[in-house]
Amino acid sequence: MNTSHSRGTWGSRSGFILAAAGSAVGLGNIWGFPTQVGQGGGAAFVLVYLICVLLICAPIMVAEIALGRHSRLSPAGAFRNLAPDSSWWIVGALGVATGAGILSFYSVISGWTIAYVWFTATSAVSGNAESVNRFFEAFTSNGIVNLALTSLVLGATATILLGGVRAGIERATKTLMPALIVLLLILAMRAVTLPGAEAGLDYYMRPDLTRLLDVSVFNAALGQAFFSLSLGMGAMITYGSYLGRREAIGTSTVWIVILDTSIALLAGFIIFPAGFSISGFDPTSSGPGLIFTVLPRLFSTIPGGNLFGAAFFLLLSMAALTSTISLLEVPVSHCVDTRGWSRRKAVAIVTGCVFLLAIPSSLGNGAVGLFSDLPIIGGNFLDLMATIWNNFSLPIGGLLTSIFVGRVWHVNRALDELRAEGASFPVAPLWIFLVKWVCPVAIGSIIIATALVTF
Ligand code: TRP
Repeated sequence: MNTSHSRGTWGSRSGFILAAAGSAVGLGNIWGFPTQVGQGGGAAFVLVYLICVLLICAPIMVAEIALGRHSRLSPAGAFRNLAPDSSWWIVGALGVATGAGILSFYSVISGWTIAYVWFTATSAVSGNAESVNRFFEAFTSNGIVNLALTSLVLGATATILLGGVRAGIERATKTLMPALIVLLLILAMRAVTLPGAEAGLDYYMRPDLTRLLDVSVFNAALGQAFFSLSLGMGAMITYGSYLGRREAIGTSTVWIVILDTSIALLAGFIIFPAGFSISGFDPTSSGPGLIFTVLPRLFSTIPGGNLFGAAFFLLLSMAALTSTISLLEVPVSHCVDTRGWSRRKAVAIVTGCVFLLAIPSSLGNGAVGLFSDLPIIGGNFLDLMATIWNNFSLPIGGLLTSIFVGRVWHVNRALDELRAEGASFPVAPLWIFLVKWVCPVAIGSIIIATALVTF
């Protein structure tokens, strides 16, 4: 087992919070959240999402970080070390597959955001709603361009993991994240003052309670909450394994959750008011193109909107990059720890596999996609990947983690870790109740109910 010295820890006191927030804040908040709200029927989805974040995800984040810091190992090693001669290492292995799976479609969307820096800066995407939609369709149908952009994203991620410029990323996050928040605030102010914005605010904030009878809303909200907070596949176990014992896990979690959730909510205050002010807008059918079709229209209502838009997509691309790093880090550190591969070899092989899996997601979009209308699931390959990994794999990983920490490793040992060096953790009884009972029962019920209505 590694000691904390040989493993190395985060550079500065805030290094962990920055890296974890960098992992959490990404496309999940600005692209995923509004898309899911649109498909899930508006405010009812938001309500369920917030409940999932508070009662299920926040306690699991505490559990993951504690597990990582205690074991100082990557996920599979952590489970194996704390429960030798058992099958619990499988949870870590599932996380490795999930990291690669998520990265395979995440890199495609990240490629779109990079392209949109250029498209907005040069005003290539502009005009009325119809021409903006047509532009998006045509762009995502272009297989060669999409494959090139996906490789660019994966290449940049791999280079950062190899080159050890992670300290630079920590520092960059410190300035880029506030800049992104400022831009989002300005956009939200513009969006809510557009004519017709009230309909969007209504859709976003007044829940249609009949939607709560639909189990798919619960499944999608749960999956989105795990995805947005980077939980359920060991990313926070891995980041926690580099965390020094002096940092309070409870307090760090509160900050990460507040930051991540506020950014997602803010994105909704932009997309829905702006969307509804455009005639003929239908949030349900917009799918993954939602932000790429609504935002260019919004930029066109702002003086200097194309530069503003380019800055926005640039910051979003950077936020996506700090997330892809954590997605790649999990399978890479797994191969280094358990197979004894060099970091170089692990990065090369894992990135290669992810690229192969990314090909169908990259070529399946737009009207003429090769993998665009799959039988049985009735969507494209990218939708299929997002559903499998976000809605099932992450919650199942979280379910097993909560059972492991609550019952196998045991909450009292976890509490010792949470209170290390005199850190305060005043919500211990509540946390224990949530991890031991609420998380397993709620996640288990949602997964089972979804499986029953789907199959
Ligand atoms: N949370 C990131 C986002 O919202 C995506 C992400 C990065 C992720 N690392 C993860 C999701 C680990 C699940 C698990 O964009």
